[in-house]
Amino acid sequence: MISNFETLSFGVVDEIGTLVINRPDKLNALNIQVLRELKGALTGLKSVPLKGLILTGEGEKAFIAGADIAEMKPLEPGEALAFSELGQLVTLAFEALPYPTIACVNGFALGGGFEMALSCDFIFASKNAVFGLPEVKLGLIPGFGGTQRLLKIVGERRAKELIFSGRNITSDEAKNLGIALEVFADKDQLLAEALNWFKTATKNSLMAISRAKFVLGQGLVEERKAFAEIFQTEDMKEGTTAFLEKRKAQFKGKNV
Ligand code: COA
Repeated sequence: MISNFETLSFGVVDEIGTLVINRPDKLNALNIQVLRELKGALTGLKSVPLKGLILTGEGEKAFIAGADIAEMKPLEPGEALAFSELGQLVTLAFEALPYPTIACVNGFALGGGFEMALSCDFIFASKNAVFGLPEVKLGLIPGFGGTQRLLKIVGERRAKELIFSGRNITSDEAKNLGIALEVFADKDQLLAEALNWFKTATKNSLMAISRAKFVLGQGLVEERKAFAEIFQTEDMKEGTTAFLEKRKAQFKGKNV
């Protein structure tokens, strides 16, 4: 179960989980404890029946202001490799969840914080959100998958511009670049709209969403296989039959 974490809190409303990074005195910076607890929580999530997950940060000021610089500074190369592997494992675990995930970004999403947000299916931002990969300003590079994920979203040229300059971008620029899907006035509206999004989307076949999520991360071969497999499911029969009978579909398939 997801409890007994010092740096995280977790709650469920209408089968939508909300995972909160809770270290506001350090702007929710990701130290080893937070990363280990995130890894544990993501393992625990496998036994919680959810339709979706929100990731956010405690407080008004920051989503996550990056990996913990004070903890990183003394790391030897071997320890740095382990730190990067741990951060990457967490981002891969977010990506592997079999339901949609939304990063609700309030305030700073810098460095490793931006990278965590990029590993969610999409980002909803509040007006005051600030995104950036400022690692080069510290003599570092992004190490939690940010180079590859940003590249996929904004293309090589813009990814290079953002990573080489280390500059911050506003919520509006993030939306223009396709990084943030929506921008909302404040944190309350941000969380309410994320829940609303799930309310609508999860009326669709959860099983089909989870297959679509899987194939979006794969290639055409996987798409073909999953497309053929889905024809053997009750959800597919129900969805197509309901359309032809001019009624609403009643989906029962699980998001595995
Ligand atoms: N790692 C460790 N501690 C961090 C941190 C990080 N990434 N980001 C913020 N903190 C800590 C500060 O050290 C400070 O701790 P203190 O009160 O014990 O001194 C506390 O969080 C509040 O931050 P502060 O810098 O005082 O807030 P601010 O409003 O003046 O500035 C930021 C906010 C986000 C601009 C600034 O904290 C910052 O630049 N953080 C680092 C961002 C970064 O480079 N991230 C990528 C790391 S690879």
